[in-house]
Amino acid sequence: VPVEPFDIVVFGATGDLALRKLIPALFHRWCDGQITADSRIIAASREPMSDDAFRDIAARHIFERDPTDARRKAWSDFIERMHYVAVDVSAQGEDWADLKAALDPDEDKIRLYYLALPPSTYGQACAGLAAQSLNTPNARIVLEKPIGTDFHSARRINDQVGEVFRENNIFRIDHYLGKETVQNLLILRFANYLFEPIWNANGIDHVQITVAESLGAGERAGYYDRSGALRDMVQNHLLQLACLVAMEPPASLDPDSVRTEKLKVLKALRPITAANVSQDVVRGQYQAGAVGGSPVPGYAEEVGSDTGTETFVAIRAQLENWRWAGVPFYMRTGKRMGSRRSEIIVQFKPVPHDVVGAVDGVLHPNRLVIRLQPDEGVKLMLMTKDPGPGGLRLRYVPLNLSYAEHFEANYPDAYERLLMAVVRGNLSLFMRRDEVEAAWRWVDGIIRAWDEGQAKLYGYQAGTDGPTQAALLLAREDREWFDAI
Ligand code: BG6
Repeated sequence: VPVEPFDIVVFGATGDLALRKLIPALFHRWCDGQITADSRIIAASREPMSDDAFRDIAARHIFERDPTDARRKAWSDFIERMHYVAVDVSAQGEDWADLKAALDPDEDKIRLYYLALPPSTYGQACAGLAAQSLNTPNARIVLEKPIGTDFHSARRINDQVGEVFRENNIFRIDHYLGKETVQNLLILRFANYLFEPIWNANGIDHVQITVAESLGAGERAGYYDRSGALRDMVQNHLLQLACLVAMEPPASLDPDSVRTEKLKVLKALRPITAANVSQDVVRGQYQAGAVGGSPVPGYAEEVGSDTGTETFVAIRAQLENWRWAGVPFYMRTGKRMGSRRSEIIVQFKPVPHDVVGAVDGVLHPNRLVIRLQPDEGVKLMLMTKDPGPGGLRLRYVPLNLSYAEHFEANYPDAYERLLMAVVRGNLSLFMRRDEVEAAWRWVDGIIRAWDEGQAKLYGYQAGTDGPTQAALLLAREDREWFDAI
């Protein structure tokens, strides 16, 4: 269904995010007829450039992945809507007036300002928009994560943005919330009777959240080296996933009901401090190794210096509330791991009494595996009788919902979905200010403890599951990270 006509300004248009994700996302929505011809896409970045020069750069990113003729025809229509304006957001110069001139003068039209910029410039960008009165009634600002580098900087940025835009017009992106299976989490939990009665410390032994990447820091090393895995991934993506697993049922799926419940989870996280950081958090950095059979350099070699930035982190987190008392949430994320794999695993408790007398030795407790990527799906692991005439043999098998088998595979990328949600004004897939700040408060505790000298960095060979210390985090409690099934 087409969305209302809108104008979008993509700040940071020559950057990695805009070229790899945002422009392609808009183009794909255009190809699917969701964006109408009276919408405009304004690419903004510092360097002067003609419309055509920018279109050529953008085209290279589109067609290296999808070179079909049909796409080329659609592209030539799409780029008629796409213009380039040079704007230096760090100065309040004339170029802001050029930006204003590029927008539709209709002040009631929906406008999106997407800041694909370093967060330290968000305040200046908003001031520039305000100076030209570009914060029109239907204008929405979209902020990329990470918002700030700690609680205080996040609060400062939120204040600055809040001076120009009302909270309901601020869309803080966590693109994990746009992923199909992540959205399905709430439906799985709250539109089925099955899970909720045992979705607590009585029924669940522990939760594992893994976001493993095979890529290295690569071209984004400049940003990444200042950030590290904790700020880049845990503060946002992993904590958001934990929130969706752990939250209480909201009264409805309206944005504030959901976001208020998520906030409660963040506030219930037991603080990690210097007293427990070395026990509950493992920092790692990849060293030379091989991924998918190809040799890759170590992180220090890739970024050209030995900065001590972590490219892997594993955490044993604990929620201090009735539902989750004593249930660990183990989270891990890293670059240059063996394969790209993101999943949430909910490990249920063992049955209270073994009626079968464990013929084959082991009765495995049920396990729910929610696979976010690459091959989306939900698996519920069950004990089953191995069919056949022999004795009573048991097998641990999946009840398997594979997205590829059950649904048309063609669902949009997270950014496509999120951009259209901004146009529709649907805030439920975006983080509210207090969520971002609460997440930082918890993460800041870890950073503070690291800064106080508890930041031991363990090496791991590229292409592996991270440092062995991450395995010990669970082994210590007689548990283990589960492999992909
Ligand atoms: C981004 C991080 O937010 O998420 C990147 O900044 C990371 O470092 C990326 O690679 C992972 O996203 P996805 O969708 O590929 O899992």
